[in-house]
Amino acid sequence: MTIRARARVFSFIIRINMAFKVAVLPGDGIGPEVTAEAVRVLKACGGDYDFQEALVGGIAWEKTGTPLPNETLDLCRTADAILMGAVGGPKYDNIQPPSLRPEIGALLALRRELELFANVRPAKTLPPLLNASPLKGDHGLIDLVVVRELTGGIYFGEPRERRENGTVAVDTCIYSRSEIERITERAFSIARARKREIVSVDKANVLETSRLWREVVTEMAGANKDVKVTHMLIDNCAMQLVRDPKQFDVILTENMFGDVLSDEASMITGSLGLLPSASLGNPRNGKPFGLYEPVHGSAPDIAGQGRANPIAAILSGAMMLRYTFNDSVNADRVEAAVEQVLGEGLRTADIFEKGTKLISTVEMGSAIAAKLA
Ligand code: IPM
Ligand code: MG
Repeated sequence: MTIRARARVFSFIIRINMAFKVAVLPGDGIGPEVTAEAVRVLKACGGDYDFQEALVGGIAWEKTGTPLPNETLDLCRTADAILMGAVGGPKYDNIQPPSLRPEIGALLALRRELELFANVRPAKTLPPLLNASPLKGDHGLIDLVVVRELTGGIYFGEPRERRENGTVAVDTCIYSRSEIERITERAFSIARARKREIVSVDKANVLETSRLWREVVTEMAGANKDVKVTHMLIDNCAMQLVRDPKQFDVILTENMFGDVLSDEASMITGSLGLLPSASLGNPRNGKPFGLYEPVHGSAPDIAGQGRANPIAAILSGAMMLRYTFNDSVNADRVEAAVEQVLGEGLRTADIFEKGTKLISTVEMGSAIAAKLA
């Protein structure tokens, strides 16, 4: 074996013996409480993870003057994955300039800086909680995933500004072919692990960006005939989601429509508080890099009281195992543990109902972790 080949084998051995580095960004409100429980559960899975915490959001702004300090961004750039809690809160809503607000200065900045272009939001009803769905009977028993483009569209287009003494406002919706191609490719690979059906959602009867979107998705569908692709207008999709949500498996859509549809889909499962998400970028160290976070926000009204539901954060940890660490065995175990604990009637305040047992954030995390020991 040549010296170079030996060196390569050696560095590979070092790499597989090295712990995976996970950047933990607890953030604001209930973020720290729920993130701590996700870390507890991940540790109970027994993998070799090096958790490194950093400041983000309003708390980072208070302590350092910026919602996304350089150290945090550097940690994220060198980590294998990021586990985030939540950012923002009424305390920070009026920070000037707006670019320093946690949502824009931390969350959107992280998405853009790390090129996390694929937002994957599964909405799956947990059968013990079916009663919480606003849809009648088993109508609310859904299992779908919204694949949302996350770094383009009207969220990031320039110009965005006020004109004519602030009396006129402009946002710009812009998409390039390559942006649409890469998110569509991700949707195809997600669909292949599911029912091989994609509904692509746009507003092609009005918007030029949507016409390009439909053109590109149609082209790619022609080259990937193993997946069935149909198109739906956003207004119709919003309606179909409450009329007959079971018709959907993978919904592929642009940034703004995905923001709205993912909230709508998540509510069908009964609680926004239970749903995880992954924001994926390009592979790093050979693994799909991603930021994993609950879909819910920072809920400042209940922060620090042990009332928050850590399940969305815990399930985000499971997505991290599945997508970045290719460990579907432990991801399945975590998801099963969550269902088991709910099946036993344990509930945090948000999902408590008569005949169930009310427990705290830490108790919920501990109960789930105990199933994995
Ligand atoms: C989400 C949130 C964010 C978004 C906000 C907080 C900027 O609603 O992740 O869906 O609009 O993308
Ligand atoms: Mg949203």
